[in-house]
Amino acid sequence: MNPLKKLIPETVRAKVRDHPLWRRRYNRRHAVELATTSKRLDLCSSQIAHMFHLADHPSLEGKVCMEIGSGWILSHALVCHLLGASKVLCTDVEAIVRPSYIPIAIRSAVHYIVRDVLSPFAEHADIRARLEHLASLDHFDLEVLASLGIEYVAPIDLAKRCLGQPVDFIYSLSVLEHVPVDDIAPLLANLVQDLTVGGTMVHAIHLEDHRDIQNHPFPFLAEDGNHYGRGEQTVHGNRIRRSRWRRHFDALEAFDWRFIYQFSRRDKPLPSHIDAAVEHQGEDDLRISHIGVYGVKRAPEERA
Ligand SMILES: C[S@@+](CC[C@H](N)C(=O)[O-])C[C@H]1O[C@@H](n2cnc3c(N)ncnc32)[C@H](O)[C@@H]1O
Repeated sequence: MNPLKKLIPETVRAKVRDHPLWRRRYNRRHAVELATTSKRLDLCSSQIAHMFHLADHPSLEGKVCMEIGSGWILSHALVCHLLGASKVLCTDVEAIVRPSYIPIAIRSAVHYIVRDVLSPFAEHADIRARLEHLASLDHFDLEVLASLGIEYVAPIDLAKRCLGQPVDFIYSLSVLEHVPVDDIAPLLANLVQDLTVGGTMVHAIHLEDHRDIQNHPFPFLAEDGNHYGRGEQTVHGNRIRRSRWRRHFDALEAFDWRFIYQFSRRDKPLPSHIDAAVEHQGEDDLRISHIGVYGVKRAPEERA
């Protein structure tokens, strides 16, 4: 910490952090940082293209898409639009979107990367035309997004109810690990319910302790489950390991699925004690840091 900050008592610093002016300044900085890093349109295009290659995913042309936990900038929804989706429903448990930062995510991207990495999944010329249109818009709000077929639906808790309209493609990125353990089964069942037969889901799930991902990916596994409630699960991660995710997806009716990737952390120690609430199948299972899930909804009678 900055030595000058140390001279200010924590109670005073907490008051400053809570002040609306400070929050506005922090939020602005955070939104710009997202729009110029992880939510840059070329990076998000590459991320979707990577998963579509691994999944051998069908085209989104004319499809209705739904994102779970869209976050602040909605760049992945723009990617679905570039790929020809007829509609993209961006959902979130809280209304936190910041559409005015979208032009930064578009401007800071290298446009030929967007076109080229997406071209296996849609016509290059169509992507170019849609991208040029996006780049020509210097202001974004919910109305502008709606004119592109991108609708923001928040707040909505899809563990409590279905969206209530058929969708062909559902995706989430770094979201399912924030959903409390008790909500995962109803959430996944509701998603499959909204999915059309032949519709697909892709979920990128991040299994590390979110407090210090780089240096300490596993401490939360040791924490006493009695004190690791819904709040902790939402903020730091729900601690569900790969084997438990497998059981959750296996339990879904008429849904054929597979892991499209799984990565492990071998460079950091596991805690010596694992909390009894963490279901697992040993060290390999505990060390998985990321999984990608791809699935297709089948008509019940088609199920293998
Ligand atoms: C780490 S952010 C990821 C945002 C976005 N998907 C991205 O890739 O930038 C986690 C998102 O999950 C959402 N979220 C948290 N709990 C959720 C829940 N129970 N159901 C749905 N979304 C949730 C948050 O509101 C937030 O938008």
